[in-house]
Amino acid sequence: MTSSEIRNSFLKFFEERGHSIVPSSPVVPYDDPTLLFTNAGMNQFKDVFLGTGRRPYKRAVDTQKCIRVSGKHNDLEEVGRDTYHHTFFEMLGNWSFGDYYKKEAIEWAWELLTKVWELPKNRLWATVYKDDEEAEQLWKKVTDIDPTHVLRFGEKDNFWEMGETGPCGPCSEIHMDRTPGGNAPASMVNAGHPEMMEIWNLVFIQYDRDASGKLTPLPAKHVDTGMGFERMCAVLQNKESNYDTDVFSPLLSRISEITGKTYQASLEDGGVDRSRGQTGSSVSIQQSEIDVAMRVVADHLRALTFAIADSAIPSNEGRGYVLRRLLRRAARFGRNLGMDKPFIYKLVPTLVEAMGSSFPEISQKREHIEKVIKGEEEGFNNTLDRGLNVFNDIALETLHSQFQKEGYYYRS
Ligand code: SER
Repeated sequence: MTSSEIRNSFLKFFEERGHSIVPSSPVVPYDDPTLLFTNAGMNQFKDVFLGTGRRPYKRAVDTQKCIRVSGKHNDLEEVGRDTYHHTFFEMLGNWSFGDYYKKEAIEWAWELLTKVWELPKNRLWATVYKDDEEAEQLWKKVTDIDPTHVLRFGEKDNFWEMGETGPCGPCSEIHMDRTPGGNAPASMVNAGHPEMMEIWNLVFIQYDRDASGKLTPLPAKHVDTGMGFERMCAVLQNKESNYDTDVFSPLLSRISEITGKTYQASLEDGGVDRSRGQTGSSVSIQQSEIDVAMRVVADHLRALTFAIADSAIPSNEGRGYVLRRLLRRAARFGRNLGMDKPFIYKLVPTLVEAMGSSFPEISQKREHIEKVIKGEEEGFNNTLDRGLNVFNDIALETLHSQFQKEGYYYRS
């Protein structure tokens, strides 16, 4: 299945079960000053959960554009070094606003994963909140999951909160065992192992947490689910790395064309970054650095394009500053690809071609996005060149005095 087919089959599955397909909200949440970027599918439905807003539907399905650039699970400096964290990503979700609850959420998740997408049941694990007897029993009753694959965890893993205060509730996550043998032990679940991948989070929203930490039951119970689209594409396309899926491969090919460098992580080792703490690798450090740089550029280009399409602009503060940092990080890594002239903007048409039909705003604003990125690249390259020249001068000076000290110039 192509990534477009995967996205559409998720939407269609829930549409057939009475859900309205709703558009993603902008990735720049202008009506919520507490939030730099939209970071979860539920942001646009916060008011419905709290009972202060209404929608003309009780069931919805969508793919939400999200940007996460900070927080303990997504340190910007790490993006590109591994093969499954991103600054920009899509979160597929189905929603119940005071309508169905745990039973249908669990039943349908299992049906989509195992019947429609035909994932092997023996590789799937479900976690539930430590007190959630009901969810544990439902997994055993309404699905044919291996009963030993249903595990309980505490607040950290299985109680989802949107922030310090606000709508929250116990959640049930589905994890996929991607080890070669498919017989990973239970101890690998929630242990930060990349081969035991969390693929879907079903949140049962039922409380509002106030500033003192107290939980008050909400007037109605809701379902909020979130599935990382790029990860699911890697699973369904049987790729070890998100960057080997068709979500990223057109961008990596275009980066190759422009820079004359080749992306080799996928060929050699499934995208493991060998430059970190490993020696004796058959892939040279230099190639590994090229692979990292190509992933950084592809990732950041997506975040920049979608944020600029939703009217953000690089600047020196707030959201704009985050965009500036992203652009500069991509441009710095671009230097590892031998690029000291603007080139990132040239990738925009490739992204538009791949994603413009699902997100028309990037097609409509293509020229504007290119212009903004190009202008920002030019500005930064000039700054960087000046900085590098100063650095080179200082380095030469230092070398010169070192050589003098060592008498290097007087040796014959
Ligand atoms: N709100 C949950 C999350 O962001 C599920 O969508 O993970």
